[in-house]
Amino acid sequence: MQRNHERISFGSKLGAILAAAGSAVGLGNIWRFPYEAGNHGGAAFILIYLGCIFIFGLPIMVAEFTIGRRAKASTGGSFGVLAPGTQWKWVGYLGVLTGFLIFGYYSVVAGWTLEYLLQALTGGFNNKSADDFVSMFTEFSQDPFRPILWLSVFMIVTHFVIVKGVKNGIEKSSKVLMPVLFILVILLAICSVTLPNAEKGLDFLLKPDFGKVTSDVFLGAMGQAFFSMSLGMGCLSTYASYFGKDTRLAHTAMSVGLIDTFVAVLAGVIIFPAAFSVGINPGSGPSLIFITLPNVFEQAFSSMPLLSSACASAFYILLALAALTSTISLHEVSTAFFHEKFRISRHKSATIVSVGCWSIGVVSSLALGDWSGYTICGLNIFDALDFLTAKIMLPVSGLLSAVFVGWYLDKNIVKGEATNYGNLKGTFYPVYIFILKFVAPIGILLIFFNELSLF
Ligand code: PFF
Repeated sequence: MQRNHERISFGSKLGAILAAAGSAVGLGNIWRFPYEAGNHGGAAFILIYLGCIFIFGLPIMVAEFTIGRRAKASTGGSFGVLAPGTQWKWVGYLGVLTGFLIFGYYSVVAGWTLEYLLQALTGGFNNKSADDFVSMFTEFSQDPFRPILWLSVFMIVTHFVIVKGVKNGIEKSSKVLMPVLFILVILLAICSVTLPNAEKGLDFLLKPDFGKVTSDVFLGAMGQAFFSMSLGMGCLSTYASYFGKDTRLAHTAMSVGLIDTFVAVLAGVIIFPAAFSVGINPGSGPSLIFITLPNVFEQAFSSMPLLSSACASAFYILLALAALTSTISLHEVSTAFFHEKFRISRHKSATIVSVGCWSIGVVSSLALGDWSGYTICGLNIFDALDFLTAKIMLPVSGLLSAVFVGWYLDKNIVKGEATNYGNLKGTFYPVYIFILKFVAPIGILLIFFNELSLF
């Protein structure tokens, strides 16, 4: 693959930061982080998570930025550009495949947010009991048509943004969606902490309980940091191929890390005070967002159905926007790759990706209902895809990226990219290299074995 010197770039540094932050902020922040934090020592988990972001997440993010910006190619092609004639190209291909598969099942859950938004807007949660919310979710997620309808809507919107291109699609949408997302997250957090007994929820989330900190918590925090910051599949490296030469990589990584953590912590501030205020014990996984929360919104404002509907709608809009900015980045990884590798138009490439990922999405969705009998190693296809990508493919490709930049890539290039070829001081450069060479590979191996329950 040719290195493209005339490559299109983001129009501004802010656009670059918001696009990368959009990739990072997603369902992982609003759905998984609060539960992980709440059940693993609250503030103690948050401190460990922050540690993971600083000592391990940010350096890997800078490494991925380095690969993308230097190669000026999508992740699938960048390893081939930087290490021609070697087997490193497979790391790029692995990233593309991972993104393709994640996109397939991620868009199923993204589609659910639209159904719940519609329910919230049309008063579908009114006068429902806790049991009603359970059956509502079970019936909906197992339905053969409705989830696929919403998944299709989500796919079409993502497709539409992608075919508009890097500047007019990805950058422009991030500049609109991210500020709306920040406003919603802040408004909902304020709303939640003003509910009666909100302090119990804040205690649950923020009171450090070091008694709950085990090695498992460290590894859980590392895994969460990895998924949440979109590391390990070249999403950020593809975006970095559109960075300008004066974009400061470490600064951009720091901004993305801060935004991602800010949204994750505020998601906890929305969820726990509201749940405790109505005396509901927060569950985990999909049930927290699609069963517990609608019930919370319904009960917290039972005497004010309009307010209940407004808060629930705002929450599902927030969730849908967060998911959309992430699906855009997942789509771009494959679209840019096919566009460059097979020299087809961006439009054609995006169509192939949309149809391909839509098909995986349909299979994943049916796997929760009619096709739940088809299993791989005891997991239905949805769970198998989640396991294969998040627990095996992401750590493996993240590890290889760290090793590639830490050990293989010419240090003049690595230092040049980190310091914008001498324009920045690079005070932390030795620490960065040390982390890439030793800390990150060991850390990732630990997550990997832990996730596979071999640890
Ligand atoms: N970071 C996203 C989230 O927290 O939901 C998920 C994700 C997006 C993971 C893009 C990986 C990726 F490349």
